[in-house]
Amino acid sequence: MRVLVTGGAGYIGSGVVEELIRSGHRAVVLDNLSKGHRDAVHPEAEFIEEDLLHADAVRLALHGVDAVVHMAADSLVGESVGNPAKYYRNNLVAGLVLLDAMRESGARHLVFSSTAAVYGEPAKQPIEERDPTAPTNPYGESKLAFEHALRWYGVYGLRAISLRYFNAAGATALCRERHDPETHLIPVVLQVALGTLPEVTVFGSDYPTPDGTCVRDYIHVSDLARAHVLALEALAGGNPGGAYNLGCGGKGYSVKQVIDVARAVTGREIAVRTGPRRPGDPPVLVASSQRISAELGWTPHLQDLREIVGSAWDSLRR
Ligand SMILES: NC(=O)c1ccc[n+]([C@@H]2O[C@H](COP(=O)([O-])OP(=O)(O)OC[C@H]3O[C@@H](n4cnc5c(N)ncnc54)[C@H](O)[C@@H]3O)[C@@H](O)[C@H]2O)c1
Repeated sequence: MRVLVTGGAGYIGSGVVEELIRSGHRAVVLDNLSKGHRDAVHPEAEFIEEDLLHADAVRLALHGVDAVVHMAADSLVGESVGNPAKYYRNNLVAGLVLLDAMRESGARHLVFSSTAAVYGEPAKQPIEERDPTAPTNPYGESKLAFEHALRWYGVYGLRAISLRYFNAAGATALCRERHDPETHLIPVVLQVALGTLPEVTVFGSDYPTPDGTCVRDYIHVSDLARAHVLALEALAGGNPGGAYNLGCGGKGYSVKQVIDVARAVTGREIAVRTGPRRPGDPPVLVASSQRISAELGWTPHLQDLREIVGSAWDSLRR
């Protein structure tokens, strides 16, 4: 397949492109480099530096494309609360530009990088796809609104799979996490180990969890990338589309466990400051992957936290 990857110069996008090419597909990356990096684009991928909001450019990019992986987005929860317009514009309006361009093209299948933030603060763990969706911020709302659009655009013959996940982590030979600002726990902790940040703040240590800190789901970026390619191949094979969670198997790791593993992996001291709980941070957030495992045969290969943190640490030092 020749696959258009929006956001393919970003963290997970560069991993998806790597996996597509490894699996024998061809990749066209469309990215405006607002957050991505030119050197993250796989050398064998075509690269188009464009904004998804430019309908003419998107139509051109779709020439000869069989399917789309849509990863381009803004994804900072806190920023989305202060500036919802930015999130509706980039995550919903720009997504609709893409869908309308697809209607005029031969591409009929799309895999969407959604988020487990569509569930909000779920009543039970691990979260399943049939659980209610109730986002608590404009980021999650904008992603859910696009998921809904995908369902209704089925009337034009488009079929789509939305992948809902929490924390991508780790690195591969070509893809590593370089967000600015960095808000994700593992890269922040490793920057403290490297000495580029003074300390990491742990938000709350009195949660009803084994060690009092929040428990979260971490998935290695190569496992996420494989899921995106599997989903594309499933659509080509007739999968009707819908939503699948990607989770680490229902366990999750606490913030304290992440910091302890990072200390062991790096052999360095990591200074920690304990701050108050953040509003809206549930004690545990983990997703069940049973549906994607049963229907698409996906299982994570790199679940061990040491391997995940270790790959991120190696990538920071190369
Ligand atoms: N990182 C995570 O833990 C995580 C978790 C759940 C979902 N997601 C979703 O996965 C996707 C990728 O996340 P990431 O962490 O790799 O983010 P990222 O910021 O590294 O990558 C996003 C890419 O999209 C590009 N982009 C943004 N708006 C664009 C536009 N209008 N036109 C063209 N390009 C545009 C950016 O330049 C960037 O390269 C996002 O959709 C995000 O919401 C990420």
